[in-house]
Amino acid sequence: MVLRVDALAKTFPGGVRAVRDVSFTVGPGELVALVGESGCGKTTTLKCINRLLEPSSGLIEIEGEDISASDAVTLRRRIGWVMQGDGLFPHLSVAQNITVTPRLLSWDAAQLSARVDELLDLVRLDPDEFRDRLPSQMSGGQRQRVGVARALAARPNLILMDEPFGALDPITRDGLREDVMALKATLNFAAVLVTHDMAEALLTADRIAVMDAGTIIQYGTPAELLAAPAGPLVERMLETPLREARRVRDLTEGAGHV
Ligand SMILES: Nc1ncnc2c1ncn2[C@@H]1O[C@H](COP(=O)(O)OP(=O)(O)OP(=O)(O)O)[C@@H](O)[C@H]1O
Ligand SMILES: [Mg+2]
Repeated sequence: MVLRVDALAKTFPGGVRAVRDVSFTVGPGELVALVGESGCGKTTTLKCINRLLEPSSGLIEIEGEDISASDAVTLRRRIGWVMQGDGLFPHLSVAQNITVTPRLLSWDAAQLSARVDELLDLVRLDPDEFRDRLPSQMSGGQRQRVGVARALAARPNLILMDEPFGALDPITRDGLREDVMALKATLNFAAVLVTHDMAEALLTADRIAVMDAGTIIQYGTPAELLAAPAGPLVERMLETPLREARRVRDLTEGAGHV
C-alpha cells in the first residue's frame, strides 16, 4: 500500500472539526478521488498527508511508515503536491519553480537542468520556450502544467492533487486530465485527487470517497456509487453527470452516430 489514512481527525484551534473520521488506502498506480462540497475537509485531509498540518488524531502511513515519525524533507521527496490554484511562486521562473524540491535535496546543476527539460517535455511544454518564463507570462492551463511538472520533479511515488484542473476551460481541462492519467499509467504513481466535480471523479478514479462535514459518507468504485448511492447527497451529486451523459447519448443517437 502506498498510502494508508486511518481514522484521521483534525480540529483547528477555535474548535472547527474540519476532519472527523477519514480512512482510505491507495495502492501503487491507483487514483482515489476525494469529492465533496466546499468546506467538507478535502484540503485539510491532503495537508495532513503532506504534514503541512498536524492531525489531531489518527494514523497516516506512506509505504508502511508512520509519517509522524519521518523527516519532513524525506517525506516531501516521496510526495508530489499539485496545489489548489496553480500555487507557483510568481517571482521564480518555470525552471526554478519546477526544481524547488530537487534543490532542497541538493541535486547538482546538470541534474536539475536535465530534469527541467525532461519534465517540460512530459507535460507537453516546449522547454526552450518555457523554461525561463515567469508564471505571469503564461496561460492558466500552461501554469497548471508547470504545477504538475513540479509535483513530479523528485520522482515521488505519491501525488496529491487539490483541484488541479479547477479553473480551466473544459477543453484545456480535459486535455490536461488525459495527460495526467497517461503519466500515471506510465510512471505508476499513486494519486489522491481532490475535486468538486463528480463527473471528473467518475471518469478518473479507481475509488471515490464522498466527503460531507469531515467524514466519508460513501467509499467505493465509480460503478459501486452509480449502482447504489449511499444517500440523498450522493444521489444529488450523481444527478448532473448522469443527466448530461443521457442528453449527449440522446443527441448522438438522434443524429445517427450511435
Ligand atoms: N487554518 C484553519 N483554521 C480554522 N479553520 C479552518 C482552517 N482551514 C480550514 N478550516 C475550516 O475547516 C473546514 C474544512 O476546510 P477545507 O479547506 O479542508 O475544505 P475543502 O473541502 O477543501 O473546501 P473547498 O472545496 O472550498 O476548497 C472549513 O470549515 C474551513 O473553514
Ligand atoms: Mg480545498
